[in-house]
Amino acid sequence: MIKKGIILSGGMGTRMSPLTKAVNKQLLPIYDKPLIFYPLSILMLSKIKDILIIVNKGQLNQYKKILPNGERLGIKITYEEQDSPKGLPDAFILGEKFIGKDNVALILGDNFFYGQFLSQKLLDCSKLKNGAKVLLHRVASPEKYGVAKVKKNKITYIKEKPKKFISDLAITGLYFFDNKVIKFAKQLKPSKRNELEITDLLNKYKRINKLSADYIGRGGAWLDTGSLEDFYKTSAFVSAIENRQGFKIACIEEIALLNKWINKKQINDAIKFYGKCEYSSYLKKLIS
Ligand code: DAU
Repeated sequence: MIKKGIILSGGMGTRMSPLTKAVNKQLLPIYDKPLIFYPLSILMLSKIKDILIIVNKGQLNQYKKILPNGERLGIKITYEEQDSPKGLPDAFILGEKFIGKDNVALILGDNFFYGQFLSQKLLDCSKLKNGAKVLLHRVASPEKYGVAKVKKNKITYIKEKPKKFISDLAITGLYFFDNKVIKFAKQLKPSKRNELEITDLLNKYKRINKLSADYIGRGGAWLDTGSLEDFYKTSAFVSAIENRQGFKIACIEEIALLNKWINKKQINDAIKFYGKCEYSSYLKKLIS
């Protein structure tokens, strides 16, 4: 089982300026909680307890206010700062010490996943021993993402933001890698936009026949909160589900409780920490 996970939560957030001038994008609200809770919940649902959060230089204190060291959730959270957005594979260079000799999952700090059977799928993916695994999802605008062409269940071609149509299968921002990822990331050269590209990294695995794919499927939702429009659409989605069904998406304390990583005491501590709010009322209901 993969035991370590990285949340890449830096970036300049320029597309959402001025909102992101003082506050990092991943700390802005998606409906009733900060965006960072959503990718964190995905790693926790994958039963990953050792988590590295990579943040923009200078923004560490903001994060530590809301997610200090993970103790409250029965997990371990450490931080690393990124000087400038050098590209997604930089996560494995910055995270080399954290990863050590283990395999690792990477999730982008602005990605949102939700769906039936998602937890089971995540657990299946985190069983990866060798190679790399990506999660694909059919989208209406593939030109906005990294895409994969698939033939007979095998990825035959990968391209970052293709101008011409190749496939409508987007490569979502959740990846599972074996330990070779550190070595491969270090071999990459910056692209024309002067970034290390995740698609180049995935191509290295494809070339040695070690890249596999799974699908989120029609019953699932994947949203990239990259633009302001997508950010608000994701908020509306969470609000609709939560208010209709009465349970919360990405309540990290609830997941920790279900995983038996914490007990009533830590839930009570969380209630004290958050103060009198709707989120705390929900936590109270969980233990009553
Ligand atoms: O959302 C999925 C897509 O994410 C994939 O389909 C693409 O293949 C992948 O390249 C990526 O595309 P984006 O254009 O969405 O990447 P972006 O530059 O917006 O970065 C994604 C998140 O990672 C964002 O929250 C900022 C953070 N980030 C990004 C870079 C380049 C960092 O923390 N550090 C970085 O160096």
